[in-house]
Amino acid sequence: MNKTKYKQGNISIWNEIAPRYHKRWASINDGPFQSTSKLVQLMDLQKGYNVLDIACGTGVVTKKINEKIGSDGNVIGIDTSTTAIKIAKKWNGFKTNLDFVIMDAERFSFGVKFDAITCQYALFFFPDAQKALKNMRNNLKKYGKIGISVHGTKEKVPFFSSILDTVTEFIPDYIPSGTPDLDRFGTKSTLKNEIEKAGFSSIFVKSYVFKYSPGKFEDYWKNYLRYVAKPLKEKLDQLKNETRKELKENIRRNTLQYTKRNGIIEFPWEVLILTAKN
Ligand SMILES: C[S@@+](CC[C@H](N)C(=O)[O-])C[C@H]1O[C@@H](n2cnc3c(N)ncnc32)[C@H](O)[C@@H]1O
Repeated sequence: MNKTKYKQGNISIWNEIAPRYHKRWASINDGPFQSTSKLVQLMDLQKGYNVLDIACGTGVVTKKINEKIGSDGNVIGIDTSTTAIKIAKKWNGFKTNLDFVIMDAERFSFGVKFDAITCQYALFFFPDAQKALKNMRNNLKKYGKIGISVHGTKEKVPFFSSILDTVTEFIPDYIPSGTPDLDRFGTKSTLKNEIEKAGFSSIFVKSYVFKYSPGKFEDYWKNYLRYVAKPLKEKLDQLKNETRKELKENIRRNTLQYTKRNGIIEFPWEVLILTAKN
């Protein structure tokens, strides 16, 4: 798959799922989204700072940044999804020191340099992560700080792998070939190396293991089907009834080790948060 095609596909997926993503995940500081306040805390943002939030989605990190920098500060959120940007604008309300703009992380450029740049749960979506990181450096003041959150590797995020490991066995092209590997920065060393390669220094990576409960197995599966992007749902819908039943049973088996006596699943969820300086 070429880069342009992947990006276009990703944009249409985010345009479709942004409202559901905001409602179920980003706007609720539960499970992995406990990272939003941790990331902002680690950034040591001062009143009056000029901050950029890359791949801001529906603006949850941007909002917290805005609260920290006060009325003398300024924050801009950029994202390639028009739907996400619309939600971000509505959810944050109008403020003279806050703006949301449609821009690609690999291509943006501003007339000013920022004191700090954040990027939560998106580095792994950029096909050319180095390009995006070098872009961050070019738009960051000398000694300015970046903060990046990513999910851990798939074994450390069984919420994803319990379903995806099995689904990709049944539907080998479920994730189209050429899609960047979404857990490629999921260890401290892979993440650190990538940031070092782009020329940043004073790099620190913290690992957090949050808990996330999707309810009982039936809730987990039902909600997966409800929230999954349309192209993936279509592939699941094409399975014959018998195959679908077998798939579901295999997924259920994967979740047993995380299921408590009362039937509630409780997944551990590793998140890495990196900070570094220009
Ligand atoms: C998992 S969401 C994270 C959103 C937000 N940072 C948060 O923590 O809720 C990933 C976001 O990355 C955006 N994205 C993907 N590729 C991008 C790119 N090349 N440039 C800018 N945004 C991109 C998507 O549109 C989506 O809003």
